[in-house]
Amino acid sequence: APDLPTADTVEVASESRKAPAELIAREVARRRTFGIISHPDAGKTTLTEKLLLFSGAIQLAGTVKARKSGRHATSDWMEIEKQRGISVASSVMQFEYRDHVVNLLDTPGHQDFSEDTYRVLTAVDSALMVIDAAKGVEEQTIKLLNVCRMRDTPILTFMNKLDRECRDPLELLDEVESVLKIQCAPVTWPIGMGKNFRGVYHLLRDEILLFKAGEERADQEFEVVKGIDNPRLAEMFPLEIEQLKMEVELVHGASHPFDLEEFLAGKQTPVFFGSAINNFGVREILNALLDWAPAPRERDATVRSVEPTEAPFSGFVFKIQANMDPAHRDRIAFLRVCSGRFERGMKIKHLRLNREIKVSSVVTFMASSREQVEEAYAGDIIGLPNHGNMQIGDSFSEGELLQFTGIPYFAPDFFRSVRIRNPLKIKQLHKGLQQLGEEGAVQVFKPVHGGDLVLGAVGVLQFEVVASRLLNEYGVDAVFEGTSISSARWVTSDDKKALADFEKSSAGANIAFDAAGNMAYLATSGVNLKLTQERWPQLTFHSTREHA
Ligand code: G4P
Repeated sequence: APDLPTADTVEVASESRKAPAELIAREVARRRTFGIISHPDAGKTTLTEKLLLFSGAIQLAGTVKARKSGRHATSDWMEIEKQRGISVASSVMQFEYRDHVVNLLDTPGHQDFSEDTYRVLTAVDSALMVIDAAKGVEEQTIKLLNVCRMRDTPILTFMNKLDRECRDPLELLDEVESVLKIQCAPVTWPIGMGKNFRGVYHLLRDEILLFKAGEERADQEFEVVKGIDNPRLAEMFPLEIEQLKMEVELVHGASHPFDLEEFLAGKQTPVFFGSAINNFGVREILNALLDWAPAPRERDATVRSVEPTEAPFSGFVFKIQANMDPAHRDRIAFLRVCSGRFERGMKIKHLRLNREIKVSSVVTFMASSREQVEEAYAGDIIGLPNHGNMQIGDSFSEGELLQFTGIPYFAPDFFRSVRIRNPLKIKQLHKGLQQLGEEGAVQVFKPVHGGDLVLGAVGVLQFEVVASRLLNEYGVDAVFEGTSISSARWVTSDDKKALADFEKSSAGANIAFDAAGNMAYLATSGVNLKLTQERWPQLTFHSTREHA
C-alpha cells in the first residue's frame, strides 16, 4: 500500500494539481476542431491544401491534391484507396496558426463516401461548408448538414470559385436559407465574378480585399483598400463599385447581421466568398474559425456531462481504420479527447471491457506525417493501435464510468446479400462480419427467418472495403449480390406484444437484427415502408440509431 500522505505531500499534490488545471484550460481554449463538408468537386481538397499551406503546415503546393489523385508515395492509406485515388477513410490534420492548435478532420466527399464521413462530424466542434458558387447547394452537402444539425454544430460557409461565372450571390444565400434551413450572415461580399472578379468587400470591417489570380502563393498579401467610399476604388473600377454599393445596401437590408450567439447555436452561418485555388478569401475563413468557432465544449457522457477542462482524461472512439500501414495488420482507433490531458505511456481505462490499457504507441496527426504524440488535450484526435478490441463509440477514462453519447448509426442506402464460395468458411465469414460490423465498417443484418446475411452501407465503396478485408484478414472469398431491399429502419416500441406480433406477421420476412441485436425493418420500396408504418402505428421506425 502507498505511504500515507503527510502534510507535506498533500501540499505538493494540491500544488501540482493546480498547475495542470491552468495549463489544461489554456490548451483547451486555443484548440479548434473542425471538418469540411461539401459536395464532390466544390473545392474541399483545394481549400484543405490552402489552409495547410497558409498555416505553414506544409510547404509544397500539390501535396494534398496529389494524395487525392493517388500520386503520393507514402503508405498511409489503404491499397484500395490508392487504386481508386480517393480517400476511403477520413484522416486528421493538425496544425498551428496564430497560437491556436487546429485539428482539421477530413470527411471524404466522393460519391462513395462511407459512414466514417458522418461519424467524423460527431467528433468536431464546428464545420466549414464549401459550396461551388456556380452550382449552389448540392445533394451531399444537404446530407452532411443534416448530420451537423443533430448536434447543432456551428457552420461557417465558403462560397468558392468566384473566379468563374457563378450564380447571383443573393440567390445563393436564398438557396442556403431555404434548402438548408439555416440563416445566412454574409461577412464578405463579392465584387463581380468570373473574368470581372475584383475582390471581396468585408462588411464588418468596411475593407476591400483586391483579387489577384495566382495559384501557388502560400503567404500572399492581397492589397486591402479601406472604406467603400475610398476614391481609389472609383478610379480603379467605377462600374463595379457602383454595383457593389447598391448590393451592399440591399444585403444590409435583406440579410441578417452576424450574431455570434446564433452562430454558436448552429442557427446562423457566416458566409464568405472567395476562390480557394487562388488562395483568395482563405485567410478570412481561417481567422473566423479561430475568432468565432468554439473551442471544445462539454460533452454528454450519459451519467453526467464532462467539461473539457476537467483534469482526468476522457474520450471516445469515433472511427476505426484498418491497414493504415500495410506492413502491419493493425487497425487504428481514432479517439477524440474530451477532457484532461493525455500523455504518452499513461494508463487509461477501456470502459466497455472494464480493462486498463497502457498506451505507449499512439499516433497524432500532424499535417505532414504521422508522429508519436507526447500529449493531447480536449479537441485533439489520437490514434490508438487496436487489435480488434475497440469499437465505434467506446469510451475511455482514467476510471470513471462514462459513456459518451451522440455517435449515430445511419440507416443504410445500399444493400447486398452475402454468400461464400467455400461453405467450410461459413464460421470465418460470420466472425469477420461480426467484427467488421462492430467496428462500424459496414452494417450487418441477420434476417429473423434465416437466409443470407444482408450488408448495409451508406456508400457502395464500403462493400469493396469489406470484401477485401474479408479476404485479407479472414481468408473468406465472399460473393456480394444485389438485393430487393431499398431502405432500412430500426424498429422500437414500448409495446412488447406489438413487436412480437410484428415479427410473426407477414412483415416478418423483412425483419432482421443488426450486429448489436437491434430489430430493423428492411423495406423493398418507399411504398412498402410507408404501408408498413401505417399498418403498425404502435411501432416507431428510426432512420438513425445511437451507439448502444
Ligand atoms: P473536392 O475535394 O471538393 O472534390 O474538390 P477539389 O478541391 O478537388 O476541386 C475540384 C475542382 O475544382 C478542381 O479542378 C479544382 O482545381 C477546382 N477548383 C477548386 N477551387 C477552385 C476555384 O477557386 N476556382 C476554380 N476556377 N476552380 C477551383 P479539376 O479540374 O477537377 O482538377 P485539376 O485538374 O484542376 O487539378
